[in-house]
Amino acid sequence: MDSYKVAILDGDGIGPEIMAEATKILDLIAERNQVNFELLPAPFGASAYFSHGHSFPEESKAICDKADAILKGPIGLSHEESKKIPLDMQPERGALLPLRRRYNTFANFRPVFLPKGLAHFSPLKPDIIGDGIDFIIIRELVGGLYFGNKETGINEDGKRFVNESLEYDEDQIRRIARVAFDTAKKRKKVLHNIHKSNVLKSSVLWNEVIEEVGVDYPDVEVIHFLVDAAATYLCLNPRQFDVMVMENMFGDILSDQGGGILGSLGLMPSACIGPKKAYYEPSHGSAPDIAGQSIANPYSMIGSVAMMLEMSFNMEDEAKKVWQAMQSVFAQGYSTPDLSKPGINAKMISTDGFGDLVTEELARL
Ligand code: NAD
Ligand code: IPM
Ligand code: MN
Repeated sequence: MDSYKVAILDGDGIGPEIMAEATKILDLIAERNQVNFELLPAPFGASAYFSHGHSFPEESKAICDKADAILKGPIGLSHEESKKIPLDMQPERGALLPLRRRYNTFANFRPVFLPKGLAHFSPLKPDIIGDGIDFIIIRELVGGLYFGNKETGINEDGKRFVNESLEYDEDQIRRIARVAFDTAKKRKKVLHNIHKSNVLKSSVLWNEVIEEVGVDYPDVEVIHFLVDAAATYLCLNPRQFDVMVMENMFGDILSDQGGGILGSLGLMPSACIGPKKAYYEPSHGSAPDIAGQSIANPYSMIGSVAMMLEMSFNMEDEAKKVWQAMQSVFAQGYSTPDLSKPGINAKMISTDGFGDLVTEELARL
């Protein structure tokens, strides 16, 4: 029997609620495939700071180190609550970025997927959605402004100042470029490279390396868009995109726009892949505004499980069935509150209601 260790980081806010639904799916997959998923819960995030004095405690590092894959819920507090934690201990700087750095998870896959049957969830007009939305944002995850040199202080004029650098070297760009080209090659063979080379020298180097790597992929067409224009095209004509690649900060912002195109961030799972370790998390945050009400949409967390099954455990068929089960529940007219709009005649379900229906549907597939 195959046995895998999966670190379970519930996180904050809606994290524990949506993680509970994700582990229901894992239990079913384990049972019917004769696979053992050894789930290893580990404190992580603001909750860990309050219970263990650190948002990424040593014991959690040890659990993640020995895990075959990591499943992570969202972390973070509301703007006001965050102030109760010292800046560098806040879970974004104190846990999430250290997790990404520790496992060098440079390749972040953020699929933006909405089949035609679910097009009504999107705020975009039906003629823009057409046969549905299906593109993937490949975001560089361990470089750029997030990890560059940072300095704050008082300058010669006695003014407070800050200096944050956007840093990349060519190897960091080359490895994400290869991931993007490989992905494009397997899909529609079109790669949209998103940059800001009219201002940023980091983008000039980025584009040079993209073109160098492109020489090895003559069958992939590369289309270059400035990031500001790309934001507009994502609203006006998202169907032109199939694979998009971009640096860390651009990817953070445009992937949330992806959630907007779909109708909710609750539809945004993701995979964060490093050379030796991968972790899987929703693209969204801890949603403090709806935490504890059992109304969060667990699709993003269950979708992250599907990505883990495919990318870490070679269980592609099961991954496909998980997606299918989720689509099917929505197609039967159910909806979570984040996706409901006036005029949509939906049967409203809770977080665990959705998880239960997906589990039942999956059991039939
Ligand atoms: P957010 O993504 O938590 O929420 C934005 C909006 O989307 C909210 O209205 C929220 O209710 C809604 N939403 C998000 N996920 C949902 C889901 N699954 N179902 C239904 N609705 C959902 O962003 P925010 O409010 O700006 O940030 C809250 C906290 O999350 C901050 O502390 C931030 O730093 C953190 N954050 C963490 C991650 C992560 O762990 N990877 C990602 C983004 C933000
Ligand atoms: C994300 C989040 C994180 C990011 C924050 C919480 C550090 O917004 O995963 O998109 O900016 O990468
Ligand atoms: Mn983000």
